[in-house]
Amino acid sequence: MKLLLATLALVGAVSLSVAAQGEDPQVVHGRQVFERQCAPCHGRGPGDDRSEMLPGTAALAHKYEGRLPAALEDRTDLSAPVLTLFVRRGSGAMPFFRKAELSDADIEAIAAYLAD
Ligand code: HEC
Repeated sequence: MKLLLATLALVGAVSLSVAAQGEDPQVVHGRQVFERQCAPCHGRGPGDDRSEMLPGTAALAHKYEGRLPAALEDRTDLSAPVLTLFVRRGSGAMPFFRKAELSDADIEAIAAYLAD
C-alpha cells in the first residue's frame, strides 16, 4: 500500500511537472509511442546499421521527391484517420499494427504529436 501511494505521488509529481512545462500529456504519449514503434523506420537520423536513411524515411523521400518532407515528424498533414488507414493496413514494406499492439488512442496520440 505504501509503495502504491508512493508510486501515485510520483506519477502525480511527474504529470504536474509535465503540465508545468505546458506539454499536453497526449502529445507526450504520442512521442513515446512514435519513438518505440515508428522511429526505427521513420526517424530522421541514420539507422543502427549506419545506413544513411531509415527504410520508411527513404521510401517517402523517393515517393515525394521533395514535395513533402521524408520524415513523418516534419509533416503536418497526417491526421488520425489518415494514420489509422496506413497503420491498420500497412503499406508496401510497412507492416500493419493490430489493436493489441497499438490502440486507437495510441494512433490519436501519434497524430497529436505529429501535429504539435
Ligand atoms: C518496418 C518499418 C516501418 C515501421 C515500423 C513503420 N513504418 Fe510507416 N512506412 C514504412 C515504409 C517503408 C513506408 C512507405 C510504404 C510505401 O512505399 O508504400 C511507410 C509509410 C508510412 C505512411 C504513408 C505516408 C505517405 O505519405 O505515403 C505513414 C502515414 C506511416 N508509414 C506511418 C507509420 C506510423 C505512424 C508508424 C508507427 C506506428 C509506422 N509507420 C511504422 C515503414 C515502416
